[in-house]
Amino acid sequence: MVLSDLKIKMNSLLTTVFDKTEVESFFYLLIDFRLNLNKMDFLLNPNVAISAEDVAFFESAIQKLKSEEPIQYILGETEFYGLQFKVNENTLIPRPETEELVDWIIKDYGHYEEEGRSNLSVLDIGTGSGCIPISLAKNLSGAKVTTVDVSAAAIRVAQQNAFLNEVVINFIQADMLRHTELISVFHSDKFDVIVSNPPYVRNLEKQEINKNVLAYEPHLALFVEDNDALIFYKKITEYALNHLKNEGVLYFEINQYLGLVTVELIKGLGFKTVELRKDMSGNDRMIKAYGF
Ligand SMILES: C[S@@+](CC[C@H](N)C(=O)[O-])C[C@H]1O[C@@H](n2cnc3c(N)ncnc32)[C@H](O)[C@@H]1O
Repeated sequence: MVLSDLKIKMNSLLTTVFDKTEVESFFYLLIDFRLNLNKMDFLLNPNVAISAEDVAFFESAIQKLKSEEPIQYILGETEFYGLQFKVNENTLIPRPETEELVDWIIKDYGHYEEEGRSNLSVLDIGTGSGCIPISLAKNLSGAKVTTVDVSAAAIRVAQQNAFLNEVVINFIQADMLRHTELISVFHSDKFDVIVSNPPYVRNLEKQEINKNVLAYEPHLALFVEDNDALIFYKKITEYALNHLKNEGVLYFEINQYLGLVTVELIKGLGFKTVELRKDMSGNDRMIKAYGF
């Protein structure tokens, strides 16, 4: 088989499930991953022969794509904020909306050392692949970054990602819903920044969620009970009130349908200023809270 045959085969097998542009992007991701060839290489030489092992890899990938397994899990990696991250079934696939949250923090703190501040301390709650703490550590030089997750399997992936991206992160396994666990881990430590992208999808929103998310991504990372949808926001805000420095700032990614109630909750618990920001799709998606 040659590369152009593979492209034709992918088109014929996958356009029943995905649109043509998506299938094309899968094709280029797969040949880049497996053969280290980019789009230009393909266009210049579409008749490169593919070895039997490579054909077997592509056929298996096509079957997984047909079953709507996310391409990031098939490749075992993805990109976030310009960095490479390993992912597997125990870690949420990092989303572009979360890059926007990270970017907000980096814009706010990118010059903290030039402003005469030092030893910025950051706590991320809900590690997943480690995309938030690792991209912050990479872009905020000198920052001391700690991250917490209840999932030991997610922490293992994030530790690997910290190593691959050459940053030092303090990893802690703890349940953020149990105050006593977090308090016994951090004692009286105080942070400059606390950030979290906690689980926030209500069960009632399941019908809007694509099959590839529902069937493959960890439900522990995604779902909350309909009748207590803001439980993580409440616990983390209460925790932040005791564990942020006076000038400290709390950042959240939020459920797009719950922007105003989440702002009210955080204000009601004691933060004076709560900014709500939309993501690039125009949905309420991020919060920054300070002053208490
Ligand atoms: C929405 S994911 C976010 C992952 C990553 N920060 C990101 O943005 O891609 C939420 C994370 O919270 C973790 N988590 C869920 N319940 C938790 C709990 N009770 N205590 C600590 N972490 C929890 C999940 O394992 C998951 O990694």
